[in-house]
Amino acid sequence: MITKPRGTNDIIPGEIEIWQFIESTFRQVCRDYGYEEIRTPVFEHTELFLRGVGDTTDIVDKEMYTFQDRGDRSLTLRPEGTAPTVRAFLENKLQAGPQPVKLFYWGPMFRYDRPQAGRYRQFHQCGVEVFSAADPAIDAEVIMMSMDYYRRLGLDNLALHINSVGCPRCRPVLHEKLREYFSPHLDELCHNCRTRYEKNPLRLLDCKICEDKHTEDIPTTLNSLCNECLEHFEAVKTYLDLLNLPYHVNNHLVRGLDYYTNTAFEITASHIGAQSSIGGGGRYNGLVEVCGGPPTPGIGYALGLERIILTMREQGCPVPATDRMAVFVVNAGKAAEKTAFKLMFEIRQAGIPADKDFLNRSMKAQMKYAGRINARFVVIIGDEELAESAALVRNMDTKEQTKVPFDQLIPFIKDKY
Ligand code: HAM
Repeated sequence: MITKPRGTNDIIPGEIEIWQFIESTFRQVCRDYGYEEIRTPVFEHTELFLRGVGDTTDIVDKEMYTFQDRGDRSLTLRPEGTAPTVRAFLENKLQAGPQPVKLFYWGPMFRYDRPQAGRYRQFHQCGVEVFSAADPAIDAEVIMMSMDYYRRLGLDNLALHINSVGCPRCRPVLHEKLREYFSPHLDELCHNCRTRYEKNPLRLLDCKICEDKHTEDIPTTLNSLCNECLEHFEAVKTYLDLLNLPYHVNNHLVRGLDYYTNTAFEITASHIGAQSSIGGGGRYNGLVEVCGGPPTPGIGYALGLERIILTMREQGCPVPATDRMAVFVVNAGKAAEKTAFKLMFEIRQAGIPADKDFLNRSMKAQMKYAGRINARFVVIIGDEELAESAALVRNMDTKEQTKVPFDQLIPFIKDKY
């Protein structure tokens, strides 16, 4: 038997209901906050991620699904949704329309990482990106929106971590401080951190392996910010306070993508194992320019749907039941089968979900099956019903049975349904 590739998942009936619920809830939140949907291709030119996500990130360094197509172009299955959204924003000239541009997306992402609970090679994200708004109020909106979504899913006990990673003006100051701090300990650092030391010292702050080498006096982002960045961060906090949204300022939070400037945030859930980050995002005021556009501020987040579902299961969040099958048409005997078949389509065409037996089962077995699929009504047609041109309608909840002429069947069910 051929099995699914490592790190991927099937979502089968019985599991799909929670996916449909979290998707419809996300769409509702996006509608309430004024965000419009964008859909971009699942693969892009590799160059987009090299430039956009950054070549000192783990994603670009070792996690991309990159391949040459038959035309010898280098393409990559998208590892994230921000760079593609920026590309689409520019390519479709959305900057020419009303500003700010508030977009949302939903879909599969691909990263070649070692699979474990909560970490997959194909996983799903929902996310938003906002272009052309530099106001700290939009940072607070975006953060609040992600927390509002979790709340609507019934999640609680989540921790919101926020930080500011500065801008190209203050970043070199921090880089210098970090190099100075780490230079006496260079040979104690892990292989990756030695590269980070050269290329992007900011990332030294969030290495899990070298964490124990950090002491209290390690330089942090917050004590290296320029005045403008500090003011922006203070204003974001003021807006969050205005919304009574609790947060932790975590000045070691730098996130694993190179494009962030100013606000960075992450939401964690305890109890779902090592992969506790259920979402994250931040501002990326330089990314549109890096992708070939005019200077345009941007901010957004992406939330990991598999991790949201793990957390919902862990916390026992209820999922609303999906629609029940309204009608199951049972034919008692061969003669009634064609009438049952035709009737089922008439019921469906009237907009009422209906089904029937396709396995030549006995009437008893059909009734049992109708019970298993939790049908609300069973419409029974046997010889007697055929002769009378009327069906026996059984309400499966109350067990009440009514004889209804064929031509009144649809209004009868519509009335009760
Ligand atoms: P990210 O932190 O790389 O950010 O991913 C966001 C979320 O996707 C994570 O918090 C996690 O829940 C989920 N996730 C990431 N990798 C995996 C995986 N291998 N398996 C399962 N879930 C995973 C971004 O992707 C940025 N584009 C977010 C953003 C949008 N920043 C600004 N705008």
